[in-house]
Amino acid sequence: MIYITGDCHREVLQRFSYNKHSFLRNLTANDTIFVLGDIGLYWPGYEKETKYQLTNINKPWKTIFIAGNHDNYDFIETLPIVQPNFLISGTIRQDEQFYWIDKSCILQIDNKIILCIAGAKSHDSKYIFEKEEKSSIKTAKRRNLPYRINHVNWWNQEKIDIEDVRATLENYGSNKINYIMSHDAPAHFNNIAKKIDTYNDYKDNEGELFLEELNQTLDFDYWYHGHYHFEDYTYENHICVYHSILPIE
Ligand SMILES: [Fe+2]
Repeated sequence: MIYITGDCHREVLQRFSYNKHSFLRNLTANDTIFVLGDIGLYWPGYEKETKYQLTNINKPWKTIFIAGNHDNYDFIETLPIVQPNFLISGTIRQDEQFYWIDKSCILQIDNKIILCIAGAKSHDSKYIFEKEEKSSIKTAKRRNLPYRINHVNWWNQEKIDIEDVRATLENYGSNKINYIMSHDAPAHFNNIAKKIDTYNDYKDNEGELFLEELNQTLDFDYWYHGHYHFEDYTYENHICVYHSILPIE
């Protein structure tokens, strides 16, 4: 069976806890869990913690991480590209028992065709500094500005790679997809988000407009995404997931 869960922000081990989700005890090697972005492992300074988590997860099911906008792309890009028998198109990487998607790919699992799309544009990165810009970082910190540091807690590769997704789809050669799994959502979801969360300002960006184009043109059954931190929010055939681990049909 296939399961999905949303952003983990470094707490993958906790997300997969049998105490929190007792049904996980029954999962086997025939099951797959997709984590829809912002996994947060391998951040600089947290390497030991990451190793501890990954060693202790040690579960029988297949875990597929789809990178979000708070993931260390510099590290993910060092992982070997692999050709598992469930890969139809695009690229997927492997880190021991875990698979990682940092761009896009199409998979066939449980006889379902699944388009996976990594990335999103960060909302919390209005100011980006290089590590060396120490005085600017100090000022931004003092003024409580939304800043990030390149290659430390922000990575330019976070944006959806539109050309890569187009190439993955072209190589697949059909527009029939069962499931789309992505970190970010199609642009129209910003209108929904604005009503749910009036505190934040939701503006469409290039990646979301591209996802909207896919929403209009691909023939898919369901679209699952994370990023917005709304718990199991369902609209039409789209589901925004966060802390839950949901089985999908
Ligand atoms: Fe995100």
